[in-house]
Amino acid sequence: MTGKSDSWGKGNLGLDRTAFVRHHPSELMMRALFAGRYSGVKLDIGPDTRVLDMGAMYLNNLVPFHDRGAQCFGVEINDDMAAISREAADIQGLSVDVRTGSNRAIPHEDGVFDVVLGLNVIHYEDDTVGLRAALAEYARVTRPGGLAFVISAGPRHYLRANAERLGPNRYRITDGDFRTGQVMAYFDSLDDLSVLALEAFDSVTPGRSLEEHADAEIEFYYAIAMKAG
Ligand SMILES: C[S@@+](CC[C@H](N)C(=O)[O-])C[C@H]1O[C@@H](n2cnc3c(N)ncnc32)[C@H](O)[C@@H]1O
Repeated sequence: MTGKSDSWGKGNLGLDRTAFVRHHPSELMMRALFAGRYSGVKLDIGPDTRVLDMGAMYLNNLVPFHDRGAQCFGVEINDDMAAISREAADIQGLSVDVRTGSNRAIPHEDGVFDVVLGLNVIHYEDDTVGLRAALAEYARVTRPGGLAFVISAGPRHYLRANAERLGPNRYRITDGDFRTGQVMAYFDSLDDLSVLALEAFDSVTPGRSLEEHADAEIEFYYAIAMKAG
């Protein structure tokens, strides 16, 4: 395990000092996967749906699936983070199978998930090789006819905006939080995300969001990467 993986835990998240506060599902995910109007995708979720959330943390992005009766699974990078996820499940009354693993080593069989979520987690890889390996691993556990939904920071995201570009898909964060100094594997463009995702999946629907606020901007790229049925 690298230092970057070890940096995730209660200390850096400030959980030693605070009581649990519920987090909310990604609005971008809700628009992209549940609405039908924006991306053309409107998931049909029921008790047979199996959903895996990579970097599941507080399980907030699994809640809309859990509400619809889906079987929910989470993966976290180390045992401390997995414990945080399990605690979040207990407090919120969520039934979620949480395991320790990583983008490139998912502790599940091939082709068992209808939906694989990777929200702001794939860029914790180091470079293009890591991104390719992560996308291939997401595809491995996705069933034929299933999809993976990947979100990552775009160029105007406040954490990435001042990052130093070291080479293709390699950026060092220069001003942020505990991640300052860490190297992130960001997608160089939205096309770059589509091209890399298409190496592992059969079709890709990309999207982008940008919010401009008084003090910071936040931009995301996303890809809905589908496996043919
Ligand atoms: C920015 S948080 C995002 C949490 C959640 N997915 C969300 O969007 O609200 C990044 C998450 O990825 C996890 N993580 C870090 N490196 C990872 C890796 N190499 N593979 C899988 N998960 C990782 C962290 O522990 C953390 O939970």
